[in-house]
Amino acid sequence: MGQMGDPGPASTGFLVPDADDLPDGVLVADGRAVITGLNAAAERVIGRRAADLVGHDLRQALPLIEPDGRSWWECTDPWSGLATRTGHRERLLVLPGDGGPREVLVTARYRRPGRCQPVDAVVLGLRDAAARRRTEEAHGLLISTVAHELRSPLTSVKGFTATLLRRWDRFTDDQKRFMLETIEHDADRVTRLIGELLDISRIDAGRMEVRRQPVDLVAAVRRHVDRMVASGHEAERFVLDVEGRLPEVWADPDRLDQVLGNLLENAVRHGAGTVTLQVAPVTEALTDGGAPALAVAVAVSDEGEGIDEQDVQRVFTRFWHGTRRGGTGLGLYVVRGLVEAHGGSVQVGRSAAGGARFRFTLPAGAPEHVA
Ligand SMILES: Nc1ncnc2c1ncn2[C@@H]1O[C@H](COP(=O)(O)OP(=O)(O)O)[C@@H](O)[C@H]1O
Ligand SMILES: [Mg+2]
Repeated sequence: MGQMGDPGPASTGFLVPDADDLPDGVLVADGRAVITGLNAAAERVIGRRAADLVGHDLRQALPLIEPDGRSWWECTDPWSGLATRTGHRERLLVLPGDGGPREVLVTARYRRPGRCQPVDAVVLGLRDAAARRRTEEAHGLLISTVAHELRSPLTSVKGFTATLLRRWDRFTDDQKRFMLETIEHDADRVTRLIGELLDISRIDAGRMEVRRQPVDLVAAVRRHVDRMVASGHEAERFVLDVEGRLPEVWADPDRLDQVLGNLLENAVRHGAGTVTLQVAPVTEALTDGGAPALAVAVAVSDEGEGIDEQDVQRVFTRFWHGTRRGGTGLGLYVVRGLVEAHGGSVQVGRSAAGGARFRFTLPAGAPEHVA
């Protein structure tokens, strides 16, 4: 990498029309191993420009080696090897270079004008192996975290049910009630986790559906506060602050509830002190680089420890949670996905009292007026 940067579009000699539109790298060499063309993706994977490669010997320009260090071209030699070979399947090869070695996934097709005739073109498919490795690592992490998160509540459900079934007569009503409440709580947790995972897969696949209708944001916020108070929190802990006249907002009421519920729950569980909910009209760019537009901002602030500067980027990622366990670390990832599916954005900063301040915006107006 290093000095290469993004090499920009390639230029010459394609056998395939619109090769630059291909997501994978394609490179073509002729019967004498001279490179005749490559697409933009191939330039990115190799880290060199087409102009520096076309006209050069493929074996020298791309000195691919096997992971054990052997030269790939000596092993495979498409030009003077067995005349029946038609190419090879995907291989992980290493490409030495100025910016350090690159791992490349290479497929090859040897074109022959007729059966058993000499090769007149070698077409290489090239993919960046690092990207695939990252995806695989992320999947592995996702699976192990999910398995772990599911196991602890299920262990308690299984443990308490087994105990109750075998020793029903030995427990008092209070003890039985306690166990059943724990089972219910843990079953709820599993259900919630699965719901969040389904939301995540929709967000990741870009299929998060929002059914918009006009919503009364202030009433929604108030309802959430009431719910908190009904579940045992002191009413004095919550302050609702509505500024100015709010424009009409169209949102999916269920999704909005999820966003508000998550932020409020976090403020109470991870934060401390008074929780202030501000609702105000704003004019700002809703997406990076977008034109300023009318929106409504909802901010949830608390007086707890807040989010450390170095964690600000991480709070919205999947499975990230601070030192205190208990949650899944998925809430804010889902919040961001839901807000963005509405065309809004969400940020975190510090509240005046030093705690966390989560603020999200929703574009004003009916969806056809929303970009
Ligand atoms: N209001 C807050 N104050 C301090 N830390 C917070 C606050 N909200 C969220 N966090 C931190 O962000 C992490 C991720 O939050 P979230 O995605 O909702 O997951 P969860 O609540 O399941 O842990 C939390 O574990 C916590 O460390
Ligand atoms: Mg949470």
